[in-house]
Amino acid sequence: MRTLEFNYEYAMNFLDSDELACFGPTVRNARNLLVNREGEGSDYLGWLDLPENYNKAEFAAIKEAAEKIRKDSDVLLVIGIGGSYLGARAAYELLAANRPEGPDREGKTELYFAGNNLSSLYIENIKSKLAGKDFSINVISKSGTTTEPAVAFRIFKELLVEKYGADEAKGRIYCTTDRKRGALKQMADEEGYRTFVIPDDVGGRFSVLTPVGLLPIAAAGIDVDALLRGAADMRKTALGAPLEENPALLYAAVRNLLHRKGKSVEILVNYEPNMQYIAEWCKQLFAESEGKSGKGIFPASVNMTTDLHSLGQFIQDGSRIMFETVFEIEESGAEIMLKKEEKDLDGLNYLDGKTLDFVNRSAMKGTMKAHVEGGVPNLIVRMPEQSAYWLGQLFYFFEFAIGVSGYISGINPFNQPGVEMYKSNMFALLGKPGYTD
Ligand code: PA5
Repeated sequence: MRTLEFNYEYAMNFLDSDELACFGPTVRNARNLLVNREGEGSDYLGWLDLPENYNKAEFAAIKEAAEKIRKDSDVLLVIGIGGSYLGARAAYELLAANRPEGPDREGKTELYFAGNNLSSLYIENIKSKLAGKDFSINVISKSGTTTEPAVAFRIFKELLVEKYGADEAKGRIYCTTDRKRGALKQMADEEGYRTFVIPDDVGGRFSVLTPVGLLPIAAAGIDVDALLRGAADMRKTALGAPLEENPALLYAAVRNLLHRKGKSVEILVNYEPNMQYIAEWCKQLFAESEGKSGKGIFPASVNMTTDLHSLGQFIQDGSRIMFETVFEIEESGAEIMLKKEEKDLDGLNYLDGKTLDFVNRSAMKGTMKAHVEGGVPNLIVRMPEQSAYWLGQLFYFFEFAIGVSGYISGINPFNQPGVEMYKSNMFALLGKPGYTD
């Protein structure tokens, strides 16, 4: 079994020679807190075993619902925010939306995403894109009370009923929510909507391998069996391998060592635009897990080579507060050969016979060398290809690494007390009963 690789050779110059070895006991201790369920937040560790221990009946029901959606809908409108949409969006952008049909994707159901902001124009735009299309809705909220998805659901439910009538609309609504609690669960029970359960012991940002991610991902035609297989393979390594051979533990260790040296910003870097939402998923996972009690590494993202022409100057030469984590893909998934032209007017004939991917890869290597020389350590997370299997590995890799990383820095990685503040202020301004300035 091959697992994704973590390479930190471009960070070595920023570490003392025995620093990683000396850090070993701290990392192992954090790993043990996580795996033995002895740390803070251990009620939320259901995700640790999900790739092996998922609910098989629910998984079969997900596939069946996805099949129905693929037959009767051009679009599945995914309504959710934060952990209730970013995993599905990351998978969709990587494996379906931005690439030709292939073995990981057959068929045509598109995913649209709503309920992840409060913009009227955004909603109007989605409504106009839905005109003339058959669609279903998957509304996802663990708490069942989050304002953004609740508002969007109200609006799009009305559209669905207008289009299909109340009875058929019911059969096109899929609710993914808590087993017992919350307004969404109550509504689903009362209205008779089809429901999928988010396990009690899995928090939002760790929920991509539950129905939260699996239903929309399957509805988009992505191979969810392969996704889970990838996650299961990474789980074996993450839980079983010693520190020296364990990519997730090494990543957790090195990023914490760099943080202790003043590198307080981690830039997640892709050279493939369809990986942008992988970074968005990571940003939530990292920031909500680690950014608390005055601690944490701030996660940011850049898209290369695009951002070399905007943020590149700062990364090369600005405040030396950052390190980079580069997502490297060995096979680009498409081959474009550059050819010679008779008149070399654009001066590109030196690229004759080279692939565009070779050019992209050279840009990546050149950039990494320049940034490392400029004082920015580079870490590499390498996968052979973009596929459901490798995405499963990637999801689990980051979840495990961030769980360990949070325990290394002495916080509870599985709560998010800070996100409540804005809600209370907003509810007071909106006049919600029970909230005052
Ligand atoms: O990680 C988390 O728990 C949060 O980011 C949630 O995913 C997000 O706030 C959405 O919450 P809910 O699923 O309850 O609507």
